[in-house]
Amino acid sequence: MKSIYLNDIVPGMHLAKSIYSLNGDLLLEKGIEINERIINSIKNAGISAVFIYTENGYDIHTKLETIDIMYKHFDESINTESFSKRKGVLSDDAYAEIKDVIFKIFDIIKSNDKLLMNINKIMEKDFYTYEHSLNVAVLSILIALRIGCEKEIVINVGVGALLHDIGKILITDEILNKPGKLTDEEFEIIKKHSIYGYEFVKDSDCLSQLSKDIILYHHERLDGSGYPTGVKTNTLENGKYINIVSFTDVFDAMTNDRVYKKKMPLYMALEFVSSQVPDVLDIDVLETMINHITPFPPGTYVQLTTGEKGFVVSNNFENPTRPIIKVVYDCDGIRIFDDAYIDLMKKLTTFVQDTLIFKE
Ligand SMILES: [Fe+2]
Ligand SMILES: [Fe+2]
Repeated sequence: MKSIYLNDIVPGMHLAKSIYSLNGDLLLEKGIEINERIINSIKNAGISAVFIYTENGYDIHTKLETIDIMYKHFDESINTESFSKRKGVLSDDAYAEIKDVIFKIFDIIKSNDKLLMNINKIMEKDFYTYEHSLNVAVLSILIALRIGCEKEIVINVGVGALLHDIGKILITDEILNKPGKLTDEEFEIIKKHSIYGYEFVKDSDCLSQLSKDIILYHHERLDGSGYPTGVKTNTLENGKYINIVSFTDVFDAMTNDRVYKKKMPLYMALEFVSSQVPDVLDIDVLETMINHITPFPPGTYVQLTTGEKGFVVSNNFENPTRPIIKVVYDCDGIRIFDDAYIDLMKKLTTFVQDTLIFKE
């Protein structure tokens, strides 16, 4: 059984795998003999490759399968606890708006076989990078929407963010997932992924120049300290939008576990990105993110750097990483039943270390 592109199918071949719609409805059953009418109905369903019984073909997922898998992952990325635990809580409106943009992004990806194959490859080669790309896309879409970008721009930012690290499929696993520190030579190789990614997409008619620029320039910085060219991003035509992805890329990378480092607590990641504005990273992006994502919504069970554990009862909107906490366990692990509160705005040397699941 092989996968084969629609243009290579001829009447008389037999389908080796059933074809389903995005809703899960059966469109064509496995084993059916392909004729002209069936080829047309496959085309109308937006499918570019199918599995058939033949020796000549390609071992790839069908387009529908890839889209389906990606949609599920996107859905998990914005709906499950994992997003709120790592990045904070999004409003219901934000979920709906982000989903709408994601559907439009799928339409673009569906019309480009080469793009789909590259996404497929990164999904299989390096799941961390694939998951990170989904997170960066979700955060970038949210920020682009809240900054007030036009819908068309938001979609192009989302596509660029989703594909920003696509060039990593050309970097060897030994370097990409090396547990220790990279040597200077290895880091020089990693740095090439922006150019490799751009090479993949530069001739694609389906992608806007904005999405392509995000892939090429997402490691460039406002002060010119980035790579691969060292250009100051504000001098680029699409600099304002590239800065969104540069920011969310750094923030997401710091708040996830990697083979070579544990994830940073949210407060540390926010403090790091805050220390990079306005010279290196964009201050408007930081402010927009802080205003629209609540890192520790009321009810979150947290541990403080001093050892106390408790529930967030309210947020200080001026400084969202410094909520008011009702203490449940003191720093020696002793259960507290009296009303005891800590206002982190009044204890500036104490931080939220981590979010936890409450157990009696
Ligand atoms: Fe990158
Ligand atoms: Fe990245």
